[in-house]
Formats: sequence, structure tokens, C-alpha cells
Amino acid sequence: MSTNIKAVIFDLDGVIVSTDDCHYRGWKKMADEEGIYFDRTINERLRGVSRMESLNIILERAEKEYTEDEKVQMATRKNGYYVEFIQALTPADILPGVMETLEELKAKGIKIAIGSSSKNTPIILKQIGLSDYFDAVSDGNNITNSKPDPEVFLKAADFLGMPYDNCAIVEDADAGIEAGKAAGMVTFAVGSAKGGDVTLSNMKELLENL
Ligand code: BG6
Ligand code: MG
Repeated sequence: MSTNIKAVIFDLDGVIVSTDDCHYRGWKKMADEEGIYFDRTINERLRGVSRMESLNIILERAEKEYTEDEKVQMATRKNGYYVEFIQALTPADILPGVMETLEELKAKGIKIAIGSSSKNTPIILKQIGLSDYFDAVSDGNNITNSKPDPEVFLKAADFLGMPYDNCAIVEDADAGIEAGKAAGMVTFAVGSAKGGDVTLSNMKELLENL
């Protein structure tokens, strides 16, 4: 693949570090307290989706209607559990091949950024020892519209001062691939994400595609 990629924007959850299980346990605890059915198959649908949109997916199985205030309270409660669980993350939880790939990109002079829907991005980066590592961080705290809207990636490129067509994104969620395409960026899919310009079977393959 011949590209003009000068920056790579990485999704965080499921690309740099796996937080799926922490999200699952947080939502499961809240759902059990409310008597709402929730399982790992439903959890898969929450990948890349914002906190409130995730709650709305979980509430498809609820037997009563909740007010907006109750919904905010439920999402806040889940987040409390989640933040407790992610305190256990360490640099050892960085996914295989990620550090080598990031180091190689830096060595080649390619800018690296985070583009994540999560408002917990600063906590997670701190836990895994990468708080000051990226050239820019765009996350759930600086956006109005969540993936598949391209906003989080466009802002990451803006923070880098990089034209959008010089950027690539790496994603594990279909909503993230869609967002990258809407941003006019080259899209790399990892894990179960579908529809990327290139599907990587491991992170290091990224380097062969630049
Ligand atoms: C995404 C996750 O990165 O962030 C989603 O893939 C999650 O599962 C979303 O719902 C929002 O996360 P947070 O940490 O702001 O609740
Ligand atoms: Mg993800």
C-alpha cells in the first residue's frame, strides 16, 4: 500500500490496552443491581460506543422505563465500578506488539496520537505509564459527538497540526472504522473490526503498510 501517512491515531480501548473485561464487570454489576439481563454478547455491542449510548443498548433488556436522571445515575454508578477496576491496570497490560510499533513510528518521525471515545483516557494512560508518550490525545473529554462521528479523529489531527489526508487510524470497533473513513483517513482494523482499508492480524504489520 502506497500512502502519505505522517501521523497515526490510535484508538485506546482494545487497541493499546484491553479494558473490555473491566467495562463488562462494571456494567454487569450495575445491571445485576437493577435486575436487567446483561451478558458478554451484549457487551461486544458496546465496543467504541459512548457511555450513555452503551447504557441505552443495555436498557433494551430492561423491563421498565427509566427517567433521564435515573439513566445518568446508572451510568455514573457503572463508571465508579469501572474506575475502581482499571486501577489494577499496569504497563504489563499494554497489548502485544504495541510498544515496539509505537517506538518504530517515533523513530521514523511519524506522529502518534490517541483518538478514544473514553472520558477515562487520562486515567488509563497513567495506569499503563503512557501519560506523556503521545504527541496528542483526543478523547471523550474534548468531543460532543461519539464515533462513528469523525470528531475525535479530526480533533486529534488538529491537535497535531496535521492535514486529515496525512493521517491513519487504528481501530478495533466498526464504529471507529466508520469514523476514520468519515474523517477521510486511512483505516487499519485490528481484532474483530470490519471494513478497514487494511486488516492487521498483529500490530507490527502496521509498519509494513506505511
Ligand atoms: C470506548 C469503549 O473506548 O469508550 C467503549 O470501547 C466505552 O466500550 C467508551 O463505552 C466510553 O468509555 P468511558 O470510559 O468514557 O465510559
Ligand atoms: Mg476500541
